[in-house]
Amino acid sequence: MSKLTMDKLVALCKGRGIIFAGSEIYGGMGNTWDYGPVGVEIKNNIKRAWWKRFVQESENSFGVDAAILMNSRVWDASGHTASFSDPKMDCKKCKSRMRADTLISAHAKGKINPDTMTNEQMQDYISEHKLACPKCGACEWTPIRQFNLMFETNRGVTDESQNKIYLRPETAQGEFVNFLSVQRSMRAKVPFGIAQVGKAFRNEVTPGNFIFRTIEFEQMEHQLFCKSEESESFYNTYKEKAMRFLLDLGFDKEHLRFKDHDKLAHYASAACDIQFLYPMGWEELNGIHNRGEWDLSRHQEYSGKSMLYTDPFTGEKYLPNVVEYSIGADRLMLAVLCEAFDEETLEGGETRSLLRLSPALAAYKVAVLPLQKNLSDAAKPIYEKLKKQFMTAYDDAGSIGKRYRRQDEIGTPLCVTVDFDTLNDNTVTVRERDSMQQKRVKADEVAAMVADAVKF
Ligand code: GAP
Repeated sequence: MSKLTMDKLVALCKGRGIIFAGSEIYGGMGNTWDYGPVGVEIKNNIKRAWWKRFVQESENSFGVDAAILMNSRVWDASGHTASFSDPKMDCKKCKSRMRADTLISAHAKGKINPDTMTNEQMQDYISEHKLACPKCGACEWTPIRQFNLMFETNRGVTDESQNKIYLRPETAQGEFVNFLSVQRSMRAKVPFGIAQVGKAFRNEVTPGNFIFRTIEFEQMEHQLFCKSEESESFYNTYKEKAMRFLLDLGFDKEHLRFKDHDKLAHYASAACDIQFLYPMGWEELNGIHNRGEWDLSRHQEYSGKSMLYTDPFTGEKYLPNVVEYSIGADRLMLAVLCEAFDEETLEGGETRSLLRLSPALAAYKVAVLPLQKNLSDAAKPIYEKLKKQFMTAYDDAGSIGKRYRRQDEIGTPLCVTVDFDTLNDNTVTVRERDSMQQKRVKADEVAAMVADAVKF
């Protein structure tokens, strides 16, 4: 991985149609981002690869697409209305809002974990070490208060409190509330999984680092329902499965590590993250949690409906345990881009900038490049055929070298050059992105080559 700063990545993403600042022509809307033509393809491919691995290829795994707006009681049951909050404080001088735990982490450099501290302990630490506001340098803070991260809105036309609803802060509850509907309709037997990919919203106190922490993002979550005595073994299986998925996407294992949580939620018996080495350092990429029977028992209690599963062989009724695997699609997109970005110096001193993306994730799988514009009669039919199967680019503007560079920059794995020999023998040159090696093949063979290269 070549040295990459977040500022450089943001600029590259803008220039290459990957990600733009949200509502930019109005001066932006803090920490919202819009995916451009190249970015939306890469992100869709990430979600497709995840779905393929965790639904299509996972026996007894079923997908759902639940509503973003859920009955408010869901969030009482899940504990989000009571305790989904961050410790925040305001700078009395410049009025900036900060997370106390983030400030302490940055100061303590790993020697102290603020997750294990009470608000009072954090307040004492901040006063004792005179932690200043990163924006204005003042050391005058309001007392720390817990700030709920859920976005509220109102249903209906009256502004009564009973109409208050929330934008979901995680997709997981859509899987839990549908546990029995999925089990019965699909005749599923424990152990089985429910997966979902969808938007989640959090009013983060300190969003930032590009798409690392945003207020609107997508999650890819999988809940495995199992017997309690099997949950530890499934927890370990899912840790390995989550890591394998990342390695298969092309991550270097030196850039990934497991990190156990120092402080477990009271219902969890085990929890860990997989961290990635982002430009700003090691940070969470995904989480794996052994949640016991907490989720189903809470929904049973709050809805008044039985969530018991009946074992079809023994007739035993019980609440299954849940092993959760959760990863942000945008956060994975950021990690994928950081991992793929490279700059290399070619013979002659020229710098080649490229995205070494897994071909399965690349926006365009292949680009068709006629050597000259007047070869379009030969190049267009090849393009027309390929685009029925793959996202295919067609580019006839500029020198062939410049066109190769443009495709390298967005990570297109293969380029097909159509030249005057094509007119005689229907062969083309296929150039591979990473090695830049070229091969002469029959035009009819290109589709099979691309299909083989992009397999996941
Ligand atoms: N259902 C469990 C859950 O939501 P989480 O650790 O809060 O757990 C899971 O979130 C994953 O969602 C994280 O590992 C991260 O990849 C992603 N994520 C969480 N908050 C995010 C945010 N504000 N912006 C982008 N991604 C986020």
